[in-house]
Amino acid sequence: MKILQDKKIVLAITGGIAAYKTPELVRRLKEQGADVRVVLTASAKAFVSSLSLQAVSGYAVADSLLDPQAELAMGHIELAKWADLILIAPATANIIAKLAHGLADDLLSTLCLATSAPIAIAPAMNQQMWHAPATQENIATLINRQIAILGPGAGEQACGDVGLGRMLDVDELVSLSTQFFTPKILTEQHWVITAGPTREAIDPVRYISNHSSGKMGYALAQAALNAGAKVSLISGPVALTAPQGAHLINVSSALEMHQQSLMLAEQADVFIACAAVADYRVAEVAKQKIKKHDDNDNMQLNLVKNPDIVADVAALTAKPFTVGFAAETQKVAQYAQEKLIRKNLDLIAANDVAQSNQGFNSDNNALQVFTRDQQFEIPLASKSKVAAQLVTIIAAQNNNKG
Ligand code: C5P
Repeated sequence: MKILQDKKIVLAITGGIAAYKTPELVRRLKEQGADVRVVLTASAKAFVSSLSLQAVSGYAVADSLLDPQAELAMGHIELAKWADLILIAPATANIIAKLAHGLADDLLSTLCLATSAPIAIAPAMNQQMWHAPATQENIATLINRQIAILGPGAGEQACGDVGLGRMLDVDELVSLSTQFFTPKILTEQHWVITAGPTREAIDPVRYISNHSSGKMGYALAQAALNAGAKVSLISGPVALTAPQGAHLINVSSALEMHQQSLMLAEQADVFIACAAVADYRVAEVAKQKIKKHDDNDNMQLNLVKNPDIVADVAALTAKPFTVGFAAETQKVAQYAQEKLIRKNLDLIAANDVAQSNQGFNSDNNALQVFTRDQQFEIPLASKSKVAAQLVTIIAAQNNNKG
């Protein structure tokens, strides 16, 4: 069954340039089975036409609080009750401020006060406006009220600035909207997830690291949260925002990640080692910056092995259900299964990093999943879709074990 089957979504569009993407957003939500009604603010009408939105949604667009005709068709209170989710995309600084302060001076702001459905917003604005203290304080207020903040993303903006403030891609918004309808199969469970690379210091200014983006680990944290788990995310340095509701523990080196992991894993139900941990660290970190020597073209670094975090978690007396990842360039299944046994894991997820369209740094992934006696395939898809499937498999295996 499609994940949004028969879900009633009010897509509310406010006046930002990203509004031009919303007819496509309506189509994608409908493809996933949702019933979508569109609300437009006055300024949104300057960016996208009611007629297009009516054509793709199959409903007349609602744009006025005081229109007798519209109130006859479906009044604003009725619409507020009809919705299973109100998704505001794009959400301008203005609607964010109005929501934070409880204004009710047009159809959308009134709807938001009158609904008991969850509200999600996809902010889109100039990066300076996003960073403005007023906007950030308003966002903090909305987070406190359990309003989900989807994004914003970073990149080039319509005004020519570069930075945070782009509306998330349509696909990402659809995928994040599913979180409100995911069965809460993990309530009462604590999942600990490692993500990203580690940094192994050479001296005060240099380090050894790798290209892990952390996207898969963060997607897993989001998927576990969606299913109702309490999530601790132990993350190496990445350029990602932690999912709302996750307990984020920032670490840098493998030793720090090891210490935090062992501390938290003792009380966890599930431990997922998704981080790309450096296998070796520099034996003695120089106290001062190492100088370049003109008379010697070579230099040696003495490396020592880092502890294997996931293997140490799997060796705990109070061992959580322990999941590892295997990034391989050949003999993926064989190496993964060997790793499962050697590290005493309950489940391993293997990806073929030799393929350029998946794995490290990509937005997509495909996984082969192994337990001691079972095997599953998760086909190539966005990391959030893959993460949702992997979380379902882990949850089922953990249940079977108990
Ligand atoms: O042995 P290999 O590095 O290929 O194993 C990968 C798996 O082991 C991943 O789940 C990774 O997070 C975990 N790992 C770890 N600590 C290390 C090295 C790898 O937890 N020092």
